[in-house]
Amino acid sequence: MNQNVIISKDIQAELSAAISAVSPDRLFVLADTTTARVCWPVVKDFPCQAEAQLITIGASDEAKTLETLASVWTALGEGGATRHSMLINLGGGMVTDLGGFAASTFKRGIAFVNIPTTLLSMVDASVGGKTGINFRGLKNEIGVFNEAMTVILDTQFLSTLDAPNLRSGYAEMLKHGLISTEEHLLELLRFDIERPDLEQLKQMVAKSVSIKERIVTEDPHEHGLRKALNLGHTAGHAFESLALAENRTVLHGYAVAWGLVCELYLSATRCGFPTERLYQVAQFVRETYGRFDFTCKEYDRLFEFMTHDKKNVAGVINFTLLGAVGDIRINQQASKDDIFEMLDYYREN
Ligand code: GLY
Repeated sequence: MNQNVIISKDIQAELSAAISAVSPDRLFVLADTTTARVCWPVVKDFPCQAEAQLITIGASDEAKTLETLASVWTALGEGGATRHSMLINLGGGMVTDLGGFAASTFKRGIAFVNIPTTLLSMVDASVGGKTGINFRGLKNEIGVFNEAMTVILDTQFLSTLDAPNLRSGYAEMLKHGLISTEEHLLELLRFDIERPDLEQLKQMVAKSVSIKERIVTEDPHEHGLRKALNLGHTAGHAFESLALAENRTVLHGYAVAWGLVCELYLSATRCGFPTERLYQVAQFVRETYGRFDFTCKEYDRLFEFMTHDKKNVAGVINFTLLGAVGDIRINQQASKDDIFEMLDYYREN
């Protein structure tokens, strides 16, 4: 991995160094309507940003469209951007994904820096080079792998984040705990995310990101090991899709947390994952994220959603499972009966 991931100590100096390394002819900052209001004031008076032009886009995942992307290309073009210009993405995963794609395609690619402002984007979206937009109702359908030159992780932005969004990002940290070590998992399960100590959270964010970085360095284009980062996501995406179809609002990390419980159950029954850890994680998820309500009448629909997962090969549902904490088993297939049993377990526990 070429990207420089910085756990921020002095965002002004770090951003200034990232900009100086490129000496862009023009500088642009991409924010959404929320981060333009809440986060842009934190960085806008830095001398290194004096000439920066702010581009603002809509704030939710619904804005992650071709139209929004075109509006960013237009703003770059009208602002005089050349191949030697630079884009700084200031926001959550939607901004870093769409901004990364806009930068990767404008004049065949300009340099970009990510400053993630949500916990979810700090520990996941901003690192590892996945960029893109939603298309024809499919999430992240169009995009490229292209890493930000620098990612600056500054946990000061977390103090502006509401509790549900903090919990949402924490689910991806939990996933990183499960695919790494018992020690890190137990640290995460013991941490009080409802009353977070931001200094301790900062240390845990650094650890979490380093787990993702290690995996992405080994397998940047997700041919193998990177599928570990999909733990909890096969079931989680199905819950998200069902919620969307039923007009229920569900944050990504909540769906991942529920998906982790499902897939740890499959891990326990198929790969010998220790049941004690399954129960511990299930209890933590229940207490922190509540439950996703559905009945057995919706099993077929959930199964159908799982058949659309990007990891599937030739229509066979492919899970990432665990034999133990840190013992990653990619490309694990499960039958419809196994999946229905998993959903039974989720509803009954
Ligand atoms: N969000 C999973 C990955 O970056 O591969």
